[in-house]
Amino acid sequence: MKVFVAGGAGYIGSHAVYELLRAGHEVVVYDNLSTGRRAAVHPEARFYEGDILDRARVVEVLEAERETGAVAVALHFAAKLIVPESVTHPLAYYHNNVEGLRQMLAGLIEADVRHVVFSSTAAVYGEPGEGECFEESATLPINPYGETKLAAERMIQWVAAAHGMNFCVFRYFNVAGADASLEIGLDKDQLTHLVPLIMQTALGQRDRLSIFGSDYDTPDGTCIRDYIHVSDLARAHVLGAEHIVKHQESLLLNLGSGRGYSVREVVAEAEALFPFAYEYAARRPGDPARLIANIQKAREQLDWQPRLGLREILQSDYAYRKKLLEEG
Ligand code: UFG
Repeated sequence: MKVFVAGGAGYIGSHAVYELLRAGHEVVVYDNLSTGRRAAVHPEARFYEGDILDRARVVEVLEAERETGAVAVALHFAAKLIVPESVTHPLAYYHNNVEGLRQMLAGLIEADVRHVVFSSTAAVYGEPGEGECFEESATLPINPYGETKLAAERMIQWVAAAHGMNFCVFRYFNVAGADASLEIGLDKDQLTHLVPLIMQTALGQRDRLSIFGSDYDTPDGTCIRDYIHVSDLARAHVLGAEHIVKHQESLLLNLGSGRGYSVREVVAEAEALFPFAYEYAARRPGDPARLIANIQKAREQLDWQPRLGLREILQSDYAYRKKLLEEG
């Protein structure tokens, strides 16, 4: 089927494009290249430059594509996603993540595209405490990023009900790693995430990693997160898109590995692969102690399960970043 991928030049979007093509789909990428890179778009995908906030452009692209077969489903990756930045620039987050989605949904409806796959986040759960997060768990975000994604989820649900759409909302946990081809990966300079910062330290681009907080209420005192390989996550998008088109129903699913690792455990696993220096530092504001996904629903509904573990996440991320450095 023909799939429209908004944000297909970005980190997760570009991996979804690769997996869609591997599964035999036709792919149309729509991206404003604000954080994405043209070179990350697979050569077999058709590329259009444009912004999700520009509804007329979205409609123009979808109508142009109709000549060779209508778009069956749209995937939406075009969002802002840095938690600390959302705290200092909340209006930018509402503009892009809520208004941007509103414009894109209006464009989809105008062009009669009735299936949408949307990237949400574990940040909608806020500070969930002990245990796993279920899709039915309370949603109480503790930062603007999580708020905008929750507002977006709800918008999709109301709009879908009113306009006869089907959606698949995915709540991502901590995504990292790179495609096995090493042609794509995360390559932004301004990084706040743990895995890329470990890589930068291991590759000599920074002196040491800081472990933020060692006095959390967890077994080793550091925060626990659920890490999922970007290629596993991308494969789930292919299955989700196929599912909602085939079964004409909507889904809301967590995407993680179902396993929690503390920051200390991630560091230990990485140290076994390559040496790097680290130190303990103060807590980072806004960090929940523990975020672990329950992924039973995704397993059952999509017949999906993660194939790659923390070791593969770290190895592929390291290999991709090393290759980028060597290429200059
Ligand atoms: N951490 C460090 N040192 C660093 C960077 C991070 O100790 O230099 C710690 C953080 O304090 C946290 C853990 O590593 O405890 C993971 O932090 P990340 O910044 O990698 O990721 P977050 O868990 O803060 O957030 C990510 C995404 C969010 C998403 C969330 C859901 O950025 O968009 O996962 O789990 F909502």
